[in-house]
Amino acid sequence: MDDGNGLGDVLEASDRRAAGAGGRVTLTLRIRRYNPETRGQESWWDEFTIESEPDDRLLDALHHVKWYLDGTLALRRSCAHGICGSDAMMINGRNALACKVIVRDVAPRVTVEPIRGLPVLKDLIVDMEPFFAGYRSVLPYLINDSGEPERERLQSPEERHRYDDTTKCILCAACTTSCPSYWGSDDYLGPAALVAAHRFVFDSRDEAAAERMHVISETNGLARCHTIFNCTMACPRDIQITKAIGELKMASITGRLE
Ligand code: SF4
Ligand code: F3S
Ligand code: FES
Repeated sequence: MDDGNGLGDVLEASDRRAAGAGGRVTLTLRIRRYNPETRGQESWWDEFTIESEPDDRLLDALHHVKWYLDGTLALRRSCAHGICGSDAMMINGRNALACKVIVRDVAPRVTVEPIRGLPVLKDLIVDMEPFFAGYRSVLPYLINDSGEPERERLQSPEERHRYDDTTKCILCAACTTSCPSYWGSDDYLGPAALVAAHRFVFDSRDEAAAERMHVISETNGLARCHTIFNCTMACPRDIQITKAIGELKMASITGRLE
């Protein structure tokens, strides 16, 4: 219903929620498990079948499994609202945040695995340190040694817009761990690190672009990106990652930061 003020959409969504309240769905979760302390180095699959509200998030379903069926299930999560980036996992073969996947969209059956390319510690929890090492290497903070200004460092709306997209990153690692180049390499910095580099390289207030460009122009940087686009498809913040990497590649060729 289009009533011109959006209220119709709100009421329709409310109707759908009301309808869902009476119509729970059956959801079978097939979860890849791993626990080197009790079961050695082999992973295995467990299945759990639960009743769920169709509007629940997949994270709610995983909580149900952990709280009522198997307390040994290990997963990371914090905000439950797509902000903290801690619950990236592979859901039906694609990286996503469990708190942003709606049960209705995956029922009656969903497969959940840890993100790829990082060492699994237990069940859905991976060691994020290699990911953050790549992130740290691009100096992901503002560097300006010109002395403090009397007031704020001014920036025009156009200058701010230049790197707006890459400010949205929540460091969930969904991009980096969906990249085949990252899976096949011991040292590729990965798309999230390049997104962080982009955010500061094109910031008019920053003075360390050359240093960052030097880091990402090494063999483990931009050259490892083969424009596969998995990263862009995986990003829960809809950041145009491949485009941002393309802009860095162009800057490394031309030497111009435009
Ligand atoms: Fe996650 Fe997107 Fe940031 Fe990659 S760029 S870490 S997918 S928010
Ligand atoms: Fe990988 Fe994304 Fe490049 S998937 S190859 S970083 S475009
Ligand atoms: Fe914070 Fe999902 S729990 S992003």
